[in-house]
Amino acid sequence: MRRPLVAGNWKMHGSRAEAGRLVDELIAAGAGTAEVVICPPFVYLPDVGRRLHGNAIMLGAQDVCAEDIGAHTGEVSAAMLADVGCRFVIVGHSERRALYGEDDALVARKFAAVLRHGLVPILCVGETLQEREQGITNGVVTRQLEAVLGVAGIAAFAAAIVAYEPVWAIGTGRTATAGQAQEVHALIRGRIAEKDATIAASLRVLYGGSVKASNAAELFANPDVDGGLIGGASLKADEFARICAVAGK
Ligand code: 13P
Repeated sequence: MRRPLVAGNWKMHGSRAEAGRLVDELIAAGAGTAEVVICPPFVYLPDVGRRLHGNAIMLGAQDVCAEDIGAHTGEVSAAMLADVGCRFVIVGHSERRALYGEDDALVARKFAAVLRHGLVPILCVGETLQEREQGITNGVVTRQLEAVLGVAGIAAFAAAIVAYEPVWAIGTGRTATAGQAQEVHALIRGRIAEKDATIAASLRVLYGGSVKASNAAELFANPDVDGGLIGGASLKADEFARICAVAGK
């Protein structure tokens, strides 16, 4: 009932030539039955978008400005992202929160901006290692989710995706266990269900954090895990294609 989705977050990697090669290899590998999104750096979006023309693989961005237009030097609006063919936008990635000072309120405004322009936000939530060790994972994830619900409202989640990315699992090679992932995914779906059971039943919740082809099956087998948000492994076409194939099974 929920079609699995795999999104590749390339982060700040590669060159124009490498981006072109990677997307051509992904197209050759085929998308399979899962929905597949790739999120290159801003400057490569038009080029990658042109290469994806007519292909099932979709284009996403890694970030967006909360404002629609105006004097915001260095920023990129959701309208601009839609204009170059993006369908999805990652908001609230932990690296944006930790390295660029994005708080829950700003993330909520970015989420709303994405929806205003008909794009699908991929809202990232997740706790740090310290927060997990303090036993406040559920509180942190709930706070991050509620901040967006408070601004955008429950109806917005009919057109959104949530990604649970425990910060301690990102780029570390250390994944959450299947049980740890399922527990937080069920919490997220449960929070949404308290407000609207139908939206909760159709909401896709992705897992992110050191997903590889070798651990994807175990993670994606969880009832509340609907695919993945992939960092490092999305930079290798064959590895990413294998993860997409696992998700589509
Ligand atoms: P890794 O897959 O490299 O751990 O990154 C996960 C991530 O942050 C995707 O957004």
